[in-house]
Amino acid sequence: DERELEASFERTIAHNDRIEPRDWMPDAYRNSLIRQIAQHAHSEIIGMQPEANWITRAPSLRRKAILLAKVQDEAGHGLYLYSACETLGVSRDDLTRRLIEGRQKYSSIFNYPTLSYADVGTIGWLVDGAAICNQVPLCRTSYGPYGRAMIRICKEESFHQRQGYELLTTMMRGTDEQRALVQESVDRFWWPALMMFGPSDEQSANTEQSMAWGIKRHTNDELRQRFVDMTVPQAQALGVTLPDPDLVWNEERGAYDFGTPDWDEFWAVVKGDGPCNAQRVAHRRRAWDEGAWVREAATAFAASQQTSEVR
Ligand code: ACO
Repeated sequence: DERELEASFERTIAHNDRIEPRDWMPDAYRNSLIRQIAQHAHSEIIGMQPEANWITRAPSLRRKAILLAKVQDEAGHGLYLYSACETLGVSRDDLTRRLIEGRQKYSSIFNYPTLSYADVGTIGWLVDGAAICNQVPLCRTSYGPYGRAMIRICKEESFHQRQGYELLTTMMRGTDEQRALVQESVDRFWWPALMMFGPSDEQSANTEQSMAWGIKRHTNDELRQRFVDMTVPQAQALGVTLPDPDLVWNEERGAYDFGTPDWDEFWAVVKGDGPCNAQRVAHRRRAWDEGAWVREAATAFAASQQTSEVR
């Protein structure tokens, strides 16, 4: 009966074992996973836009090939995550509709514009760096399909992070103008990258329950701290300044102290008022509408194959 199923679910969670699609799970667990995985999938797909903005203007064939491969990887990540989400009983069509109707969120970071080619490097270094920090622990999340999808995604994100860092080191070895472009880009992306980890733990509505269910393995503030500690030495090696006067090593804590992100800006972006929110969603909606004939043709073709098999 229901109570026995629930006890078995709780035992699985307590043992850090995995919940699989056919297992019984509480509705709230299922819904929270759909919320998080869908948001994550939407982020990968919307996240293609800021970087795709530069594909036609890449400074060399080599940079163009790298950027194309990277943006395609993001599409792949979106697809693995939509597939993971579908195992919870919701279709990709439905999820896409929720995104373009503004009923589901995606990461705040992708609502900022990309103003120079240095932004391609900075996104790889800081944005994908933050993504890795947040996602490596998700390989151990309690829901099997989500954790397994994260393994390959994290490997690819590591490559993305390195290509960004390599792009920036190349620019830093270049002219004064190139170095200035890198610094200007880092100045714009540093705080939005810190905001990717979500609100502070006191403001985070979902963390406590998600940790109890083993969906999340660390709190938002823990991961933000880990990212800062990892990134400061990389900034020093690169020769850029992080735009935070309060950033200082704290010997006692064995970690960096740092300033507070502008949470008003964060919530404005999350609620739809960031610099590019309207443009990002409109672009996604247009692609969805214009791709309708492809989906219809594929469905008709699949149906015709089925009938011929029956015959
Ligand atoms: N951008 C947009 N919305 C956010 C962000 C953000 N950076 N951070 C938090 N939120 C939203 C949450 O979704 C939540 O809203 P909801 O209840 O309507 O879903 C609300 O703000 C409060 O936040 P939390 O209670 O802290 O939410 P949660 O526990 O889900 O933690 C986090 C947020 C850390 C982003 C978590 O969902 C997570 O780890 N997700 C998987 C990783 C991911 O989505 N990465 C996408 C960007 S990386 C990339 O794609 C390259």
